[in-house]
Amino acid sequence: MNEQLPVELLNDAFNVFRDASKKLEEQYALLEDRVDELSQELAEKNRAIERSRRLSAMGEMAARIAHEIRNPLGSMSIFATILERELVADPEKQRLASHITTGIKNLDNLLSNMLLFASSPEARLKSVNIRSVIEDSLRLTRGHERSDVSVKAEFCGQTTIMADQVLLRQLFLNLLINALDAMDEGGTLNLRTRMVHDARSYMEIKVSDTGRGINEEHVDRIFDPFFSTKDRGTGLGLAIVSAVVTAHGGFIDVVSKPGEGTIFTIGLPASREYRI
Ligand SMILES: Nc1ncnc2c1ncn2[C@@H]1O[C@H](COP(=O)(O)OP(=O)(O)OP(=O)(O)O)[C@@H](O)[C@H]1O
Ligand SMILES: [Mg+2]
Repeated sequence: MNEQLPVELLNDAFNVFRDASKKLEEQYALLEDRVDELSQELAEKNRAIERSRRLSAMGEMAARIAHEIRNPLGSMSIFATILERELVADPEKQRLASHITTGIKNLDNLLSNMLLFASSPEARLKSVNIRSVIEDSLRLTRGHERSDVSVKAEFCGQTTIMADQVLLRQLFLNLLINALDAMDEGGTLNLRTRMVHDARSYMEIKVSDTGRGINEEHVDRIFDPFFSTKDRGTGLGLAIVSAVVTAHGGFIDVVSKPGEGTIFTIGLPASREYRI
């Protein structure tokens, strides 16, 4: 019996060793799979980093080009305006000259959107009269305006808030151009501002049009950069609108009925202490 004991012990030890090495092999295979998975993840992440590096370099380049284009564009705009004025006696030529001004304005708007998109806007708050910003933006839509669209603006009560005038002008310009684009068969563009005194005071701005409206399946995507249903749209307009609202700590809502029109409602805090 005593002689048999070491053999049994050896057997047991061997079995334990075999089980342990089997388990180790399984663990090793699992680890190998995990290492493969992690290497793939790492390679994918490295590709994503490389892609975003290239995109950010392209963004910087686009911003630099936009700046370069802007200066000569300013001079062209001044000369085109002078030309338009001088051609007052020749309406046909004056109409052609006005196309230059409109084209320059469209380019300028595109450049402003691109520059804001590349830099994530920050609001520099000052006391701003919303009425004059809206009137300025309406003037800047010259070239998009049409005789078959009537424009109404109503300002109830206080019109001054703490905001960034330059950013707001770009916000309204984008909303107004979209509204005019949506009414190719004519209609009404309405702008209405009023102060709301809830828990916090904010200015409510409604921009509504009686245009073609937004298809239900598109509503969730209209604020996405580069989403556009237009042949020559960049899809940056509403992305900038949304970024400007966020930079002011405000909110934006949209209600649209295909075939009837669209209402954008924006809330902007009245003063810098409050965020909506
Ligand atoms: N008032 C509106 N009525 C109907 N559709 C609208 C209106 N505003 C925006 N949209 C829809 O939302 C899309 C995105 O608008 P956005 O302003 O971001 O880009 P865009 O107008 O197509 O191009 P961009 O403004 O860069 O020239 C538009 O293509 C259009 O389909
Ligand atoms: Mg637009």
